[in-house]
Amino acid sequence: MKTIRFIPLILVFVITGCTKMGMMHESSMGMMHESSLYERLGGKPAIDAVVEDFVNRLGGDTRIKNEKVKARLAAISIPNLKMHLANLICAGTGGPCKYGGRDMKNAHVGLSITSHEFDLTVEDLVTTLDKFKVPA
Ligand code: HEM
Repeated sequence: MKTIRFIPLILVFVITGCTKMGMMHESSMGMMHESSLYERLGGKPAIDAVVEDFVNRLGGDTRIKNEKVKARLAAISIPNLKMHLANLICAGTGGPCKYGGRDMKNAHVGLSITSHEFDLTVEDLVTTLDKFKVPA
């Protein structure tokens, strides 16, 4: 459960492959400007598409047999979960969004998520990122 505290950070690392890539582009004023990760990912539409695919993949992952997770997913609004996750990634990568959901500890408390289940979730995310050809 300790790892849950670090998951926003882990997610950003997974998406980037590493931190700052130092990619630059020229602004209309002719000045060099370092793109935010949010811009390099393709902005909110790209993040929304990745979140859509990832959450659907996770929800359908039969390797994850955690009954508490399944019951919670069945009880909540999945569009709401997707909206919160997309805003979390948007805000965490330098985008204009505000995250309005619970902190990671409170969102996942009582779900008894194991390290193995966490690893499977990361695998699902990597599969999604590969599908969308998100580069390192
Ligand atoms: C990189 C790791 C993860 C991130 C960034 C993340 C992020 C989030 C966010 C933003 C929410 C919505 C919070 C809210 O509605 O207030 C959420 C909810 C949830 N997450 Fe995660 N999560 C991660 C890992 C996991 C894992 C490993 C599982 C289970 C295998 C999981 C299962 C759930 C469930 C069931 C909910 C719904 C909780 C509820 O609404 O009561 N998450 N997560």
